[in-house]
Amino acid sequence: MKIKIKDLELEIPILNASGPRCTTEKDLLDLEDSLSGAVVSKSCTLEKREGNKGKRYWDCETLSINSMGLPNLGFEFYGEMSKKVKKSYIISVGGLSLEDNVTILNHFLTLEKKVGIELNLSCPNVIGKGQLAYDFDCLEGYLTEIFQRVNISKFLAFGIKLPPYFELTHYVGVYMKISKFPIDFITCINSVGNGLVIDYEREKPVIEPKNGIGGLGGSIIKPVGLSNVYNFKKLFPKMDIIGCGGIETGKDVFEYFLAGASAVQIGTQFHKEGTGCFKRIYEEFLEIMKSKNYKSLSDIKTIP
Ligand code: DHB
Repeated sequence: MKIKIKDLELEIPILNASGPRCTTEKDLLDLEDSLSGAVVSKSCTLEKREGNKGKRYWDCETLSINSMGLPNLGFEFYGEMSKKVKKSYIISVGGLSLEDNVTILNHFLTLEKKVGIELNLSCPNVIGKGQLAYDFDCLEGYLTEIFQRVNISKFLAFGIKLPPYFELTHYVGVYMKISKFPIDFITCINSVGNGLVIDYEREKPVIEPKNGIGGLGGSIIKPVGLSNVYNFKKLFPKMDIIGCGGIETGKDVFEYFLAGASAVQIGTQFHKEGTGCFKRIYEEFLEIMKSKNYKSLSDIKTIP
């Protein structure tokens, strides 16, 4: 069940989310060998980073919280990996400044193999840095510079990863800031930022960095993800939206398609289950398609 977003071909519309299990060479090659429709990298920065210190990921059945702090091997490593990744490769770019992102993106344009880009505008966990996508005053100027200084159209596809929004006016606010740019896809949502999970027995937060504050994932965030996909699809009917947030089963994938997604990404469940999740979830999704007698993705009509 192939799909294409601009020139980016996905064998199946179910991919890994940037974040879990996509930092090292082994991680990326395991994804290459999995059924994931593409290999999506960890968000990369100019310099290699260790990330935040101490216990920085925790999950239970319905919920995950992380404050990883952008540990990654540096952008050059993720560029080099384009030689080893044979299927579609989407590099998540999470530089700490505009200058860094311009440098990183221009470097990725020099790679022999063309790649897709997901520009992360929504990392909640870097100490001392807010999420750009919540700063409506900066967003437009930021993207203007990126599009002026990088030949974005040369990527297989260029997308942005957004955080969740909770107010209907905010969707319109984002729309006003980004609709003038030729963006090929929006990935939403990133984790629900700045949550706090406390263990009452230990009388401590379950993770250590930032006094326990971190990004939430897992099935509890699915309604937020669905609403963000739905609301952005209404505003951008022609835009490909990659849905993310709380997907554990084929049924969840189907729900995201009903909300308007063209493809989906799996984060927390991939962290828990490993690369086998893609095959399992895809098979569950195909079962649902069969039970409804739907032959292709275009048979799934977005809810009104
Ligand atoms: C990290 C978390 C994110 O949600 C993100 O988008 C990028 C990086 C992190 O803490 O590593």
